[in-house]
Amino acid sequence: MRKEEVVPKIGFAQYEVEFGEYDKNTATITRLAESAKGADLLVFPELGLTGYEFKDAREVERYAEPFGAGPTSETLKKLAKRLKMTLAIGYPEYTTRGCFNSAMLATPDGKLHNYRKLHLFSREKELFTPGDAEPPVIKTPAGRVGLMICFDWFFPETARILALKGAQIIAHPSNLVLNWCQRAMFCRCLENAVFAVTANRIGVETRAGRKLRFTGASQVVDPKGDTLVKATEAEEYVGLVDVDLALADDKHVTPLDDRLEDRRPEHYGALAEAQTQGTLA
Ligand code: ACM
Repeated sequence: MRKEEVVPKIGFAQYEVEFGEYDKNTATITRLAESAKGADLLVFPELGLTGYEFKDAREVERYAEPFGAGPTSETLKKLAKRLKMTLAIGYPEYTTRGCFNSAMLATPDGKLHNYRKLHLFSREKELFTPGDAEPPVIKTPAGRVGLMICFDWFFPETARILALKGAQIIAHPSNLVLNWCQRAMFCRCLENAVFAVTANRIGVETRAGRKLRFTGASQVVDPKGDTLVKATEAEEYVGLVDVDLALADDKHVTPLDDRLEDRRPEHYGALAEAQTQGTLA
């Protein structure tokens, strides 16, 4: 693959999303994006303007909006254009076939792209319809950016398919509540030679008798598995770093070993099966 010479500044905005405080959360992402001077790509958390712990599916529907025709689309498009940044954020997407836990990405030329979370976590299964399409990779001024959302990290197929589709950077809006993701992204990045921007949120949501604490520690990890910038677990923070995209174009492990070329998909049939087979030799 041709070496890129682009060295974009990429990163995350970590903050406390206040449930139901849409205007306040919009003001927060606007302030943080304005403070991210020189950023080419900035990633916000999953469900970054609404909050996470919906009481039930009817409440999701109240906050959900159609892709490209709601306040989050308008806000992100305008902000991306004005600040000349590529921006990604999670939001509840309304469709006549149900609501999806989605993420949109806006480029500075005013275009919008969408992804519907494939791997729903825990109660999300009662609240959302699971994603119905492959995760996208989008050509942006910051490089080729693939989208996945939070718990998608647990399924290595997600990052792999993004790498196979040419992603140099994975934008990963998140609302993490378990402790493994930040360490596990070492492996997702190393095995695919991609950068990953995990934008997590902070704070606690206590709703409908449940209490969720979000783990912060947003980070940017590089194709060698090194963490380039990381937030604390509980503080608002914008983390940015210049990255050499050529690192994500070279899939060699050694001169004789290549992460993508050396795969043996003809022997991976069970990976594409809907059910586990349990077929023993
Ligand atoms: C998660 O997928 N929000 C844990």
